[in-house]
Amino acid sequence: MKKIYFGLLILVSLVLTNCSKDKGPVDDEPATEEVSFANDVQPIFDRSCISCHPSSGNLDLTSGNSYSQLVNVAASGYSGKRVIPGDAENSILYKKIDGSEVYGSNMPLGSSLSAGEIETIEQWIEEGAKNN
Ligand code: HEC
Repeated sequence: MKKIYFGLLILVSLVLTNCSKDKGPVDDEPATEEVSFANDVQPIFDRSCISCHPSSGNLDLTSGNSYSQLVNVAASGYSGKRVIPGDAENSILYKKIDGSEVYGSNMPLGSSLSAGEIETIEQWIEEGAKNN
């Protein structure tokens, strides 16, 4: 809790002093932490995807099944792989959530993930799509 207040204090003082060039440690923090599939990615699927994806698009994103349905697995409705480790731009999972709609409708169907959630999935793929 103290850390958060301290971080906010730094942020507020940066804004107040208009010190926009100086990127403090607050900005860099999230990118240095490795994304965990179990703790960061699966909860996104649990919240936003599994209402449709034990089956829609022949894709099961439920816990315990999702990883083996994604990494290096060919998509069922598109030509390409769902997740190519280290290559988010060519992973259909990522292109289905990034708003580009190059592979049909954006997911979750009828809405979209938050910028932070999209970034989490992108980072997980770029870090090698580990089962961590
Ligand atoms: C309201 C239902 C619904 C929700 C919620 C939903 N999807 Fe889908 N999804 C579909 C349908 C229907 C298809 C098949 C048509 C298509 O490809 O767009 C699909 C297809 C896909 C495909 C392509 C699978 C393939 O191999 O062709 C991916 C990847 C995908 N969804 C990911 C997600 C993710 C990730 C989420 C959550 C962030 C999500 N979906 C949430 C309905 C849904």
